[in-house]
Amino acid sequence: MRISKLLSSMLALFVLALSFAGCTAQTDPSGAVSSTAASTRGTATSAESETADNTGVETESSEGSSSRVLVVYFSRTGEQYNVGVIDKGNTAIVAEIIAESAGADIWEVLPADDHYPTKYSALTDVAKQEQNDNARPAYAGEAPNLSQYDTIFIGAPVWWGDWPMIMYTFFENNKDGLSGKTLIPFSTHEGSGLSGFDKKLAAACPDSSIKDGIAIRGQDAQKDQDSVRAKVDEWVAGLGL
Ligand SMILES: Cc1cc2nc3c(=O)[nH]c(=O)nc-3n(C[C@H](O)[C@H](O)[C@H](O)COP(=O)(O)O)c2cc1C
Repeated sequence: MRISKLLSSMLALFVLALSFAGCTAQTDPSGAVSSTAASTRGTATSAESETADNTGVETESSEGSSSRVLVVYFSRTGEQYNVGVIDKGNTAIVAEIIAESAGADIWEVLPADDHYPTKYSALTDVAKQEQNDNARPAYAGEAPNLSQYDTIFIGAPVWWGDWPMIMYTFFENNKDGLSGKTLIPFSTHEGSGLSGFDKKLAAACPDSSIKDGIAIRGQDAQKDQDSVRAKVDEWVAGLGL
């Protein structure tokens, strides 16, 4: 009994690994657990700092920001596919590079109560269950005042071929603030690319204009930041912000 359960878990993980490596985007079943998440950090200006209550944006100036561009992202530390245990998430690294390149403020979507496991296989189960449940996990704090921004980069890891469900919470809670803005999606992934982030963002924010996004391999964010920076700089320059 025990052995067959173990074997079926191993098979599920193997299938998941293959689907990432195969660049096919969508995923397959497996799954367990659900919902809301945990922790904080902040609204603030700039790519380097963090605040304690997740109500601020990070900017490059201590006097506050006059940037009209914001980067919003979700990312996880802990054990991740292909990169081992990381203390800075792949998407967090890319988000900061984008913010530097675009002179943007930056804000991290953090789970309101951190139920996401740091073990990779357990995290895939929780994420799958949230997707199956069409959950809307709560995030900590308030999003920055979006009215001060014209352009908002929005990024996350691809989870089971889609945005992590907490990002749909962000889209829905900020429907008015996102309306009329230029939104630019970015993903980190291990084979699925942008995985339809652009179309799903357009569906969630029908009154926004969606520009071409970028997809970065998670392992490149950890191990090859020079090439990620070059790729991001070229992409940002081409956006004509
Ligand atoms: C729950 C979960 C589901 C994932 N699903 C996919 C997927 O469908 N396609 C893919 O290419 N990568 C998938 N990955 C890999 C992540 O997208 C990739 O490792 C990403 O860079 C992690 O970013 P982060 O460190 O910012 O969280 C998944 C990872 C997790 C944890």
